[in-house]
Amino acid sequence: MPTKPARYAQLSARETATLPFILLGIPFVLAGTLFALPFSNKPKEKHWRRVLTERILRYVSSISMSQTQKLTGTTESVYRKAVVKLRVKPVVEDLGHGAELFWLGPKRNDRILLYVHGGAFYAPPMEPALYCLDHVRKKLEARTNSLDVGVAILKYSLWPEAAFPTPLHQAVLAIQHLLASGVHPSGLQLIGDSAGANLITQVLLHTLIPLDGVPPLKLTAPLGGVFLISPWASLSAKSPSHTRNNGSDWIAAESIRYWGAAILADVPTPLRGYIEAVDAPDAWFDGLERVVRRVFITAGGAECLLDDIVQFADIVKKHHSRVDFLIEEGGVHDDMIVDFVSGLPEEQLSETSSICVQWLAEGFDEAK
Ligand SMILES: *[C@@H]1O[C@H](CO)[C@@H](O)[C@H](O)[C@H]1NC(C)=O
Repeated sequence: MPTKPARYAQLSARETATLPFILLGIPFVLAGTLFALPFSNKPKEKHWRRVLTERILRYVSSISMSQTQKLTGTTESVYRKAVVKLRVKPVVEDLGHGAELFWLGPKRNDRILLYVHGGAFYAPPMEPALYCLDHVRKKLEARTNSLDVGVAILKYSLWPEAAFPTPLHQAVLAIQHLLASGVHPSGLQLIGDSAGANLITQVLLHTLIPLDGVPPLKLTAPLGGVFLISPWASLSAKSPSHTRNNGSDWIAAESIRYWGAAILADVPTPLRGYIEAVDAPDAWFDGLERVVRRVFITAGGAECLLDDIVQFADIVKKHHSRVDFLIEEGGVHDDMIVDFVSGLPEEQLSETSSICVQWLAEGFDEAK
């Protein structure tokens, strides 16, 4: 387990010394992958840009948590860069307790999509995740014509400066704030990937079984929907897919275990079910239909977390009649977002993007 530094992106002497060498290695990894490309047994339908991207992500995702933070910056800096590229005006709302809402496009209160980013509770969103979100926003606005959707990104606090249940507290504040701004619960949908999908699950469980010290989330009606992309359903990485898919995913099984150990170290054992839903007592999910109208879960068929996500989807399906579960054939972790990291043109995007847009559009159509 990594030793816990005092501050975000604070490097030890060793981490400072090794970082330049890690960066120097990137061109070699690229060159090696390019050279091997004609001989590789990549699936035919996989774009070469995807192959290169996954290789680089695999290499970079094995560096230390603080080094990643140093390289990526903060959630705010990622957002500021993304809005410049996407040519949208930054709109920031301070919610107190370290939580903020970063709007992508104009602030609205009739239909809202709230994005909860991944990054193992220590890293900010990858900038292309916000391009992906902007793609979804534009497609939704194009489909629903007069129906404009406000898209907001939750800024929550990260390891080592925050620990469970601080991000949950912050997510609850954001939802309360949005509901208070006038959106009907059915007009609010949540989308999250990886740790963000885990955090959304924490919100669902907390609404059913309020956790002491976190403001309760009282809903007058169920939320419109939650779309969970490769949810980080188990932090302890025990299931067989961590070995089986270690060679095909862009995150190594060891990285997941290393991040998971760091995050779990701060979670009291009796509360683990909130953050490791697969180990939560089954009854915790009773009444789920009162919290959310529809649930969508994706998993990459070639990702380390696959078995955990299958187990998670089974639990959710047992407690809810409107659950869609998609296993993407050959898909990796956060597959839909990796398309955007690779900079694929729209016609090359995997089917998941259009399925996601369609599903969210249906949810907004159903909203009051
Ligand atoms: C995963 O793959 C890496 C090589 O990339 C290897 O070092 C490691 O032992 C593998 N772990 C498991 C659990 O298979």
